[in-house]
Amino acid sequence: MDISERLPAGFRLEARDVVDSTNSEAARLAREGAADGTVVWARRQTAGRGRQGRQWQSPEGNLYCSLILRPNVPPARAAQLSFVAALALGETLRAALADGPAPRYKWPNDVLLEGRKVAGILLESSGSPAGGIDWIIVGCGLNLAHFPENIEGGYPATSLAAMGGKDISLQEMLARFLGAFAVWRARWQDEGLTVLREAWLSNAARLGEEISVRLPGEELRGRFDGLDESGALLLGLADGSHRTIAAGDVYF
Ligand code: BTN
Repeated sequence: MDISERLPAGFRLEARDVVDSTNSEAARLAREGAADGTVVWARRQTAGRGRQGRQWQSPEGNLYCSLILRPNVPPARAAQLSFVAALALGETLRAALADGPAPRYKWPNDVLLEGRKVAGILLESSGSPAGGIDWIIVGCGLNLAHFPENIEGGYPATSLAAMGGKDISLQEMLARFLGAFAVWRARWQDEGLTVLREAWLSNAARLGEEISVRLPGEELRGRFDGLDESGALLLGLADGSHRTIAAGDVYF
């Protein structure tokens, strides 16, 4: 399959065999002026990065891609692109799993299968002098064939293959993911976060249950009560009050 013919309108592919990190490669291209919709896809990464400075193991066989986007919105709104990516990853997985487990979303931007992480999203951006966004990179890692057995400080992982998913080529998975991303991105641009938040919440892991949230210097325990209109996590505390959390790491 020639994947270039399957890209949604406005997307352009930069394919590589090996890179340090598709996010780093995308940042280099963005600094050189690469257009909105440029997608860096690599078969393997030698220095794949996760959130919180973690490593993202990147052997050949999984999907590693980073989208360069130039939305004309403030940084806080641009961060909502993680919901666009999560929903697109979830849809791509759902279609590949048929009767398998349903993908569930874990705030802020993980996708789980049976409680194990199958995909992660890393957003990195550069601001414009006017206080907006010059570019934002949406980096997505999807474990198709392999997953790490032990991740220090991380979360139990799995892969599509380990969950009995269909054997679909990398190119096909990339094309499907980008197609779904384009649809959700258009909805986000035209309608805002509300419709995405509803779709995300209807497949959220542990909604209404006890979770832990790790913040810099503190750990909170409470009930996962949903998301506010900006996408921040709402945590119900034992004293009946709520905390609204814009950034943190969730543990079950
Ligand atoms: C996380 O869950 O911690 C985020 C993982 C993001 C991994 C992807 S793989 C493609 C892109 N390139 C990187 O170096 N990281 C992201």
